[in-house]
Amino acid sequence: MAKHVSENALIMFTILLVSFLVSVESQEFSRRLSQRSFGLRKEKLSHFQFYFHDIVSGSNATAIRIVEATRTNRTAATGFGDITMIDNPLTAGPERNSRLVGRAQGIYTSASLNEMGLLMAMNYVFVEGKYNGSTLSILGRNAVMSTMREMPIVGGSGLFRFARGYAQARTHTFNMNNGDAVVEFNLYVLHY
Ligand SMILES: *[C@@H]1O[C@H](CO)[C@@H](O)[C@H](O)[C@H]1NC(C)=O
Ligand SMILES: *[C@@H]1O[C@H](CO)[C@@H](O)[C@H](O)[C@H]1NC(C)=O
Ligand SMILES: *[C@@H]1O[C@H](CO)[C@@H](O)[C@H](O)[C@H]1NC(C)=O
Repeated sequence: MAKHVSENALIMFTILLVSFLVSVESQEFSRRLSQRSFGLRKEKLSHFQFYFHDIVSGSNATAIRIVEATRTNRTAATGFGDITMIDNPLTAGPERNSRLVGRAQGIYTSASLNEMGLLMAMNYVFVEGKYNGSTLSILGRNAVMSTMREMPIVGGSGLFRFARGYAQARTHTFNMNNGDAVVEFNLYVLHY
């Protein structure tokens, strides 16, 4: 008799436990997936080199100042708070008419009161070959007066899903008369 009761109790306990686990399961909003089933087999390291054309002058400017901070003391010269919206061409060579490989779309803003330090927030959208339509997102500090600047690559889309890495920028030419600049970019990207 006692054995019978304890068996029943065990069965009841098991049913309760299972239904508890099922209810916990049904409330979950996340689940684990296998990386292989997602095609994430081997991470690769790729290097990309191209030139970024920051065209601020003329009727075909691709970098346009959209905000000027009224409280900025212009004589302080860092332009703190000024925001520029860009849709800059990225080309294979340094010449403006060199082959287009993509565009840099986003904003840069002066984020440093006392020196030239830009906050860059932009997407590189590529148009070349298999990378056509894939993007890389860059978010970082650009101390434009330094010879070499480094900015983190924080992610990507398309062929660059799960991407991370860094971008190195070096001014190739700067036109003192009109402010146009050509910047060499080298990107080192881990992606699948
Ligand atoms: C702007 O682009 C148009 C069309 O490509 C061209 O005809 C014109 O010369 C360009 N203007 C300047 C200032 O580069
Ligand atoms: C702007 O800054 C300069 C240099 O620090 C100073 O001499 C000048 O008085 C300032 N002007 C204003 C309007 O605050
Ligand atoms: C890139 O993709 C766009 C839109 O899908 C297409 O119109 C364009 O021809 C493609 N360019 C290249 C070089 O494949």
